[in-house]
Amino acid sequence: MKTIIVTGGAGFIGSNFIRYVVSFSPDVRIVNYDKLTYAGNLGNLTGIEEGQRYRFVRGDISDPAAVARVFVEEKPWGVVNFAAESHVDRSILDATPFVDTNVKGTHVLLETARRYPVERFVQISTDEVYGALGADGVFTEESPLRPNSPYAACKAAADLIALAYAKTYELPVVITRSSNNYGPYQFPEKLIPLMIRNALNGKELPVYGEGKQVRDWLYVEDNCRAVELVLHKGRSGEVYNIGGNCEKPNIEVVELICEILAQRLGENRYLKELITFIKDPRGAAHDFRYALDCSKIKGELGWEPRMNFEEGLRRTVEWYLANQVWVESVITGDYRAYYERVYGDRR
Ligand code: NAD
Ligand code: DAU
Repeated sequence: MKTIIVTGGAGFIGSNFIRYVVSFSPDVRIVNYDKLTYAGNLGNLTGIEEGQRYRFVRGDISDPAAVARVFVEEKPWGVVNFAAESHVDRSILDATPFVDTNVKGTHVLLETARRYPVERFVQISTDEVYGALGADGVFTEESPLRPNSPYAACKAAADLIALAYAKTYELPVVITRSSNNYGPYQFPEKLIPLMIRNALNGKELPVYGEGKQVRDWLYVEDNCRAVELVLHKGRSGEVYNIGGNCEKPNIEVVELICEILAQRLGENRYLKELITFIKDPRGAAHDFRYALDCSKIKGELGWEPRMNFEEGLRRTVEWYLANQVWVESVITGDYRAYYERVYGDRR
């Protein structure tokens, strides 16, 4: 049985990935190494029992001694590094934890994997490292890195250190750069779950600027399938873009959420009235558009996204409707303070 250390496995994509691997790869054992920040919740893994195929270890990826301990104990075949501070708005308020986790933490993991060799190290990155596009064009894996927000800059720094370790020490690193994920267990600070929760509570739906920015939406299970393929079959030293082939301006996404919720609740409430255009808290760091050329992963590994956006959004809305207790349980006083700082007085 192969042991894989999954960092950040109590977060949104990491927990979906663990569920995916536990369901589809019976020969894999997962060690979930997670600090449990505000974004990490063991409730995301309900139903996955500690045992032969799953272990949870609470720890910080930027703590070299703690990371080394897990490598010594587990002798992992591979590492998938999802752990990160992941929210752009928070990085604008305070970049420090982003440098600590996304840059230093990634370096600690790479250095540990050099000392206690692994067969595979997957660094989970993002399309945001490429910077912003105008109305046309797409990013390929060869596009230059031009990150704008502190979050994106820290992810780009991690990518460069990871690639340097692949070249310098022949560490078997592979990088995935995906577009915006959506689906179950996403923390309600991100666009889609925030809008669903606010709409359910009759609160305003705060759209930044005019809502014209474009994101490429990828259902989280499609991303998990891609990461699993890259883990086993990706080529070392390579980068793979993973996109949803689904570009939408933000305002369209918010309007569709309103339509799906109104239909689902069978009410005549006109949820779109809650849409409120607010002064953009990201300012010049707000990238206008992302779009990915994914011909490399399609050609080499046969991967393509499967989920249609409207169907994926319906499933996501259903999940949030059925899991409102989860939503309220992950929201703490910190969330309320954060919400006030980003959204308070922005009209
Ligand atoms: P998330 O914020 O939901 O989860 C992050 C997880 O990492 C949490 O469980 C948290 O407790 C853990 N963590 C944070 N700091 C840590 C540390 N120092 N040590 C150990 N654990 C730590 O994030 P997500 O949305 O699931 O994103 C996962 C990864 O995917 C990130 O690397 C992110 O940059 C990347 N990514 C996300 C998206 C997206 O749309 N969400 C798209 C592309 C790439
Ligand atoms: O592109 C990949 C990235 O996608 C990941 O690397 C990040 O970890 C992930 O958080 C996500 O970043 P975004 O900044 O694109 O996602 P977010 O959901 O925060 O915002 C999506 C868009 O919606 C963005 O243009 C800002 C806008 N927005 C967001 C929020 C939270 C609003 O208009 N209102 C909001 O309240």
